[in-house]
Amino acid sequence: MTLPQQLRTNALLTEARLRQLLSETVADAPPRLAEAMRYAVLGSGKRFRPFLVIESAGLFGLAPEAALQVAAAVELVHCYSLVHDDLPAMDDDELRRGRPTVHIAFDEATAILAGDALLTFAFEVLAHPDAHPEAIVRCELALGLARAAGPSGMAGGQQLDLDAERLPRLDAQDLDRVRDIQERKTGALIAFSAKAGAILAAAPPDERRALAEFGRLLGAAFQVADDLLDAEGAAAAVGKATGKDAAAGKATYVSVLGVEGARERLCRLQNEAISMLERFGGRAGMLRQAVRYVSTRTS
Ligand code: IPE
Ligand code: IPE
Ligand code: MG
Ligand code: MG
Ligand code: MG
Repeated sequence: MTLPQQLRTNALLTEARLRQLLSETVADAPPRLAEAMRYAVLGSGKRFRPFLVIESAGLFGLAPEAALQVAAAVELVHCYSLVHDDLPAMDDDELRRGRPTVHIAFDEATAILAGDALLTFAFEVLAHPDAHPEAIVRCELALGLARAAGPSGMAGGQQLDLDAERLPRLDAQDLDRVRDIQERKTGALIAFSAKAGAILAAAPPDERRALAEFGRLLGAAFQVADDLLDAEGAAAAVGKATGKDAAAGKATYVSVLGVEGARERLCRLQNEAISMLERFGGRAGMLRQAVRYVSTRTS
C-alpha cells in the first residue's frame, strides 16, 4: 500500500472509532457541548498522529484494532489543542480544517469548554480496557500522554510560543529557543504517538527509546513544514489562515533561518528521523514514507 492509501485507511478507522466514542460516551453531555466536541473532531483532519500510533504498533505485529483506542485518545488531545490554539486570546484564527473555528461556529465559552472536555475525555478513552487489557499498560500510556500534553510538553510549548511574540525580532542566535518551543508544542505529542505502539506491544526499552527519538525528530520536522506552509501556502489549500506567524512575531524556523534555511533544517531533521528507523529494517517502510510525506504535504 502507498502512504496516501494507508493514511486514508487509518484515518477512516480512526474516524469511525471517534464517531462511536463521541456518540455513545458523550450521550448525556449537554447537547451544545457535545455538538461542539463533535464539530471539533469529526469529518476532517489528516489524522497523522493516529496514523503514527497504528503504524508504530504495526511494527511489532499488532493489528490496527489493537491500537485504535489509543489513536483516538491522541487525536482527541490534538483536536482540543487546535480549538484552544485558535481562540482569540491565543492565535485568534477563524478558519480550521477549511471550516469556521469552534469559537466562531459556536462561541468562545463553548470552545473553551469543548477543549476542556476533549482533553479530559481523552484520558477516559485511554483508561478504558479497550485501550489495552492490562491496567499497567494503560497507566503507562496515560503517563506518557499526560507528559506530552502537559506543562513540560504541549501546554508549556504553547506558553513559550505566546511569550516569544513579545520578544524583539529573533535571529539565528535564537535557534535553541525555537527548537525548544517546537519540541514541546508539537514534537511531544508526535513523539508520544510514535512511541505508543512500542508501549502497547511491550517492546524492549531500547526500541521504545528509538521510536521516541524518531517521533521527536519527526515532530520537529512536522512543525517546520507547518511554519513553511504558513509562510508560503494559500489558505484555501492549507485549510487555515496563512501568513499569520510573521505578522504575529512568532518564533519559528522561518523567522530565524528564513525560508531556505528552514527547508534545509527540515531536510536534515527528516534524514535524522529516518536514521532512527534503521534497526527496524523493512518493517518500517510505511514510517519512512511518512517522514518524506511531511515535506510534501500541502495541508
Ligand atoms: C496542526 O496539526 C497543528 C500543528 C501542531 C502543527 P495538523 O497539521 O496535524 O492538523 P490536522 O489535524 O491535519 O488538521
Ligand atoms: C500549534 O502550532 C501547535 C499546537 C499545539 C496546536 P500552530 O499555532 O502553528 O498551529 P496552526 O498553524 O494554528 O495549526
Ligand atoms: Mg499556535
Ligand atoms: Mg495556530
Ligand atoms: Mg502554524
